[in-house]
Amino acid sequence: MERREFLTRTAATALAAVTPAAVLGSTANSESLPAASDSNPNAPSTVSLDTRQTVATVSPYLFGSFLEHLGRAIYDGIYQPGSPLSDAHGFRKDVLAEVRALGVPLIRYPGGNFVSGYFWQDGIGPQAQRPRILDRAWDSLETNQVGVDEFMAWCKLAGARPLMAVNLGSDTPMNASNLVEYCNVPQGTKWSDMRRANGVSQPYGIHHWCLGNEMDGPWQIGHCDATAYGYRAADAARQMKAVDPGIKVTACGSSSPGMPTYLEWERQVLEQCYEVVDYLSLHRYFNLPQKDEKPDYPRFLAQNLELDREVAQVGAVCDLVGARLKSRKTLRLSFDEWNVWYGSTGGDGKRKYAPHLIEETYNLGDALLVGGCINSLLRNAKRIEIACLAQLVNVIAPLMTNDQGVLRQTTYFPYRWALQLARGEVLAISHNGPGYETEPLGMAPYLDVVATLDNNRLCLLALNRDTSRTRTMECHFTAAHPGRILSAFTLTGSDLTATNTFAQPKNVLPERLPLPAPGRRMTIELPAQSYSVMQFELA
Ligand code: AHR
Repeated sequence: MERREFLTRTAATALAAVTPAAVLGSTANSESLPAASDSNPNAPSTVSLDTRQTVATVSPYLFGSFLEHLGRAIYDGIYQPGSPLSDAHGFRKDVLAEVRALGVPLIRYPGGNFVSGYFWQDGIGPQAQRPRILDRAWDSLETNQVGVDEFMAWCKLAGARPLMAVNLGSDTPMNASNLVEYCNVPQGTKWSDMRRANGVSQPYGIHHWCLGNEMDGPWQIGHCDATAYGYRAADAARQMKAVDPGIKVTACGSSSPGMPTYLEWERQVLEQCYEVVDYLSLHRYFNLPQKDEKPDYPRFLAQNLELDREVAQVGAVCDLVGARLKSRKTLRLSFDEWNVWYGSTGGDGKRKYAPHLIEETYNLGDALLVGGCINSLLRNAKRIEIACLAQLVNVIAPLMTNDQGVLRQTTYFPYRWALQLARGEVLAISHNGPGYETEPLGMAPYLDVVATLDNNRLCLLALNRDTSRTRTMECHFTAAHPGRILSAFTLTGSDLTATNTFAQPKNVLPERLPLPAPGRRMTIELPAQSYSVMQFELA
């Protein structure tokens, strides 16, 4: 089922025609992807690495995340006043400790669909005087107890920077620029003095901003056609940059490649705003395809290759528009929503406060695809500067809370590895090996491997898509080679549907991956259906 069908009642009707086949498309893999051949399906894969050949620097914002006023992400997720687990400001200390330890660099806020009906002034000033609002996006009660000042205070404690979205659905570009003034102007103007009156003397200096959310979607408050949105985005970008010329802004690309306007939307939007925006957004959620009424895991585990293709296609449209405008600028991409999302349905909060909405329980298979997506983001690091795992807590999230504590879902582990180990430069890889046929992707390699080099620390991240066999990876290193193994872990198991729960929080955990002695040539065995990370110090 296409995920939009369960977002809202209106979305379900409007998008009934968007089928999974349309979402998947049918073009061949992009050239940057590993080659796969089926000549000998049992042959080892060879991975050749020259530690002098780099593709791109990993942006510090490649593994950001997202917190929306949706369900229990904010309320009961990061903020639960009165809980013994919360601090004096109402922030959950256990959640903060997890986020800080992960090292999440950037967090998108406050939505998502929510932002398109959000009036940011409702969330400032004395908390007791803030209005209770009926949020139209998720049919939920919004108490406004968390607003921009609370979120910024939380970010500081979490060690994360904000990626602030403005409302270009029901609100105006002018009021978006008022928010920039509130946040970034030191003092002496209406909105900066309002911030100071609210107890925040220093400006926040928020650098990254999103110009609305998914404006191509009929479910979006204020949805309009591409040209109208392009004008609106350009107007907002100009006004916001007039207030603070140092900010970077992201225009909304398509909400999914399954949209009938996909790519044409990007072209028309950029024709209006190319020169005044800094990034274009992409979104992607993967669901579980079925074959003969059973989950089709081989196809599921190949879906990250579609993320590579989406980047190539959207990047090509950016370049087309840039060339037509004779621009000297190359537009970078912000993949500001990506994840697996298929099990949990229902976007109707029934007008409740902190309702349980889209609280996906992630299993081992989901974690493996998240690992594959991390590989795809790294492979495309030249083009992608920002990306956000959607979302961070309780709502399609690696972390879940209840009144007793916080749970690490299966997807937490690949995300943590990416944050902590995939740094520095992405290395060029020459990869050959067997693969398998998947519809509609064509040939998918069993192994999906990326490498990063941070000073003399080399990291390999490898997905084995083969659900039944250990796969051999023969690594050949040129120039420098591993001299010492720093760590090696794998996430694997016989049951792709295994999950972690509050009752059994350690059901799915990474285990040590046995490795041969480090050297110029290493033959590494990757377990069936696994995602592995290896870190070496170069000799
Ligand atoms: O992340 C959940 C929702 O998915 C967001 O609100 C929206 O932007 C997307 O459709």
